[in-house]
Amino acid sequence: LAVGVLVSGNGSNLQAIIDRIEADSLPVRIACVISNKADAFGLERARKHGIPAIHIDHRAHGGRESYDAALVETLRGHGVQLVVLAGFMRIVTSVLLNAFPNAVMNIHPALLPAFPGLHAQAQALRYGVKFSGCTVHFVDEGTDTGPIIIQAVVPVLDDDDEASLSARIQVEEHRTYPEAVRLFAERRLRIEGRKVSMLPPGA
Ligand code: GRF
Repeated sequence: LAVGVLVSGNGSNLQAIIDRIEADSLPVRIACVISNKADAFGLERARKHGIPAIHIDHRAHGGRESYDAALVETLRGHGVQLVVLAGFMRIVTSVLLNAFPNAVMNIHPALLPAFPGLHAQAQALRYGVKFSGCTVHFVDEGTDTGPIIIQAVVPVLDDDDEASLSARIQVEEHRTYPEAVRLFAERRLRIEGRKVSMLPPGA
């Protein structure tokens, strides 16, 4: 399965997927990594592993649709079958979603539907929840509203700040995202309406 990964920043989730591929436990290849930011460390991580690393500047495109059309062209040019958003800090439009139906994933650092949008960890701390976590989901046209694939829970500790909670959540992100990609690659995810169910191995 050819995967295209979209990043805007650090790319630690990209790295987790690369590491799982190189450890031979994830049967996909990363066909390209695309960033809207030229200096995203995620692009550097890709280059280091011989993966095409492409900067597509959002400022060179008139609007979200035209930007997404450029994304689609590049992703298709690399034969991508699954699009993985990994800290990609842009809202995607139907131009991307229609080009890859049920094949765009995102990871969010909270237990959706709680705390969608930006600064989810800070939102969770402010609310005072005792548990948070991460959610891997298919992307639909809303913000963090698509069908949920995997969630993982972490405790929120009394002395947590945004950094300590984020670090605890990231451990789970780096475990769950490669796992969701693997389930997709093995064609074990069934989407019915909002609900994603998981078929047993070899089904
Ligand atoms: C993660 O917290 C992810 O949940 C959110 O953006 C962050 C990306 O981190 N969508 P990284 O760039 O993968 O390190």
